Amino acid sequence: MRSAIVGATGVVGQEMLALLENSPLGKEPPLLVASPRSAGKQFSFRGESLTVQGLDSNLDLSGIDVALFAAGGSTSREWAPRFVEQGVAVVDNSSAFRLDDGVPLVVPEVNGEVIPSGPAIIANPNCSTIILLMALKPIWHLGPERLVVDTYQAVSGAGIAGLDALERESSGGEFLPGEPFPFPIHGNLFPAIGEADGDGVTVEERKMLDECRKILSAPDLVVQGTCVRVPVARCHSLAATLIFDHEDQERLTKAREALQGANGVIFEEDPGNPPTPGPLSGAHPVSVGRLRAPFADSLQLWIVGDQVLKGAALNTVQIAESWSRTVG
Ligand SMILES: NC(=O)c1ccc[n+]([C@@H]2O[C@H](COP(=O)([O-])OP(=O)(O)OC[C@H]3O[C@@H](n4cnc5c(N)ncnc54)[C@H](OP(=O)(O)O)[C@@H]3O)[C@@H](O)[C@H]2O)c1
Repeated sequence: MRSAIVGATGVVGQEMLALLENSPLGKEPPLLVASPRSAGKQFSFRGESLTVQGLDSNLDLSGIDVALFAAGGSTSREWAPRFVEQGVAVVDNSSAFRLDDGVPLVVPEVNGEVIPSGPAIIANPNCSTIILLMALKPIWHLGPERLVVDTYQAVSGAGIAGLDALERESSGGEFLPGEPFPFPIHGNLFPAIGEADGDGVTVEERKMLDECRKILSAPDLVVQGTCVRVPVARCHSLAATLIFDHEDQERLTKAREALQGANGVIFEEDPGNPPTPGPLSGAHPVSVGRLRAPFADSLQLWIVGDQVLKGAALNTVQIAESWSRTVG
């Protein structure tokens, strides 16, 4: 089993490379691919030096079984189908195919059973969606009918350019509009991640609604909230309120029991010790804290996850590992 990383020089691609060092998918060194301007760059893998190949029609995919794409939507749209035509399964981090019929959208702990075998495109959900669903899955059986989720999203969610912007502005450099943010980020935050549609809902907010509905097979689920970019380097935080159609005095206890020991989740019971982004940078599990029910028809929780790992690279590698088990 040999893999390729497309977007290997980026924030997500670099984490994929590190994760493959300890994955059965990395037994053979992966093929590293990025834009032609990165061709020739070298990265170390298990003590060996690997050279980045530029993505063009001369790229040799022989021997590659699965490709992990983290190179943006337009690259995925153009190249993922070509990889599949050449017999390579693609796990794609972009939003290009997430809502397409016939393309599974997967968080392995939530709906891993939809992973197909054979060469196909499999989509990795949006980072906030993954982090939300990791916390929601253990308590989903309690039957919420409406979610209100506000996100506090790290700058690295916008890739290397996002990290560069925070670093530049923090060290006295000027704000460069659109590179990549529409507003200054140092000493600031802004509730505008992607363009707003006719209802005033941003692209990022719409993704959370559409993707939760698809992954949970819940077409009528309401997910609403505000996605906010904050001057944090890494880890997204989410404030979630789950609203139910009836009051239940036992619901808090049931939720607490369900979150204790949930797969891929650290549940922090002490309200005085909520999860925060700094210490969780680099963590694989998603952390949940401040679980509370001040009103008997709802539950509130605070969720923090490393969006480069479980929100992107780790979830992708986990999908690819599951896929590899389906093909033997
Ligand atoms: N960052 C996150 O937290 C996060 C979370 C979930 C999903 N994602 C998604 O993951 C993808 C990558 O994000 P990122 O944050 O890693 O971005 P990034 O740091 O900006 O890296 C982008 C990568 O894509 C490559 N690339 C750009 N144009 C290309 C082309 N024409 N052909 C081949 N490769 C090309 C870049 O190569 P060069 O270095 O050669 O330009 C680089 O390796 C995006 O679709 C993003 O939406 C990101």
